[in-house]
Amino acid sequence: MSSTEIPVQAEAFRYCPYVVSSTAPVETHLDVVEKLLSNGFNHLQVKENYIVPLKERPQMDEVSHSYSIPVIDLKNLDGPARKSVVNEIKRACEEDGFFQIVNHGVPEALMKRMMDVAKEFFEMPPEDRACLYSDDPRQLVRLSTSFNITKDKFLNWMDYLTQPCHPLEEYIHAWPQKPAAYREIAGEYAKELRALALRLMAAISEAMGQDSDYLNRVFKKHRHLMNINYYPSCPNPDLTLGISPHSDPGGISVLMQGLVSGLQVHRDGKWVAVEPISNAFVVNLGDQLQVLSNGRFQSIEHRAITNNTTARISIPSFYGPSLDAFISPAESMVDEEHPALYRGYRFEEYMGVFWSQELRSKSILDGFKIETGQ
Ligand code: OGA
Ligand code: NI
Repeated sequence: MSSTEIPVQAEAFRYCPYVVSSTAPVETHLDVVEKLLSNGFNHLQVKENYIVPLKERPQMDEVSHSYSIPVIDLKNLDGPARKSVVNEIKRACEEDGFFQIVNHGVPEALMKRMMDVAKEFFEMPPEDRACLYSDDPRQLVRLSTSFNITKDKFLNWMDYLTQPCHPLEEYIHAWPQKPAAYREIAGEYAKELRALALRLMAAISEAMGQDSDYLNRVFKKHRHLMNINYYPSCPNPDLTLGISPHSDPGGISVLMQGLVSGLQVHRDGKWVAVEPISNAFVVNLGDQLQVLSNGRFQSIEHRAITNNTTARISIPSFYGPSLDAFISPAESMVDEEHPALYRGYRFEEYMGVFWSQELRSKSILDGFKIETGQ
């Protein structure tokens, strides 16, 4: 950045609503622009702190093409054939932990508008975004980079915006004000995604042998977060990861991944690409569903790789319990053959561990396992 640009950015920050209440000096915000990948220059070369240690690199030639996650048609979910769709979902939860859904009811035009406004958000000048930046996970609406920049050993090739969506009227006023149509479009999209998540929760409750309201009750007030992940193109995809291997912490994740591939799931010791299907959503279960199902449903590890041609945007909606919800294996999933694998805990306790460390593969749940003495 040339020094002549600095006053322009300082000026821009003065009009940013979040700076008004901030005590941070303007220099801090200029530092933020430096931290972002989406600032027009950080993605032009791979800096040292983004280089993944040798053993953890993506190894594209080892990616398996012999399996793809199931595609489930939700057209008949609310009709007389419900039971057979629920069974398909059950099988996918048990065997795959990941599936794609089509005929899900979210209007295609709205999906496109959401993707377009997300792109616009990350393509506006960085100073129009940087005022939303925070490294602190307690900040509910925030723009950040990598995963947990204060803990990550190497940085992920990603910036992201995260925002709570439920209850919408409690949070929407803190969402980005730019682009001008952002709140209207993202608000409408969030409502549709909540409706879809509620339908999936009912079906998954039934797949667990519970009444359809089970997850709705367990999730208490519910927690609905929407992220926009932005992965700029990367000059050397072999050295970087868009997002490190992890399992999602919450209940059910519903991802719009656009048409640029990058998502991979871990299956039988190999990484498998999730090829985009136009207008489908990718659904996966988070750690809380693994505990509630007593390990019968899987919260699968996944990651995103980068590419050197096209920026990729994905929009995950994370739907799950509110922090005060109590999570323990459902009675219907525990019997003599399947003794309880996890102790009960408040979701807040799990999230405390989640944010205290770097993003990593499935290790958090180990701390919640019941010692069997074997
Ligand atoms: C996530 C995630 C994958 C993707 O945000 O938790 O796994 O394709 N994203 O962006
Ligand atoms: Ni994830």
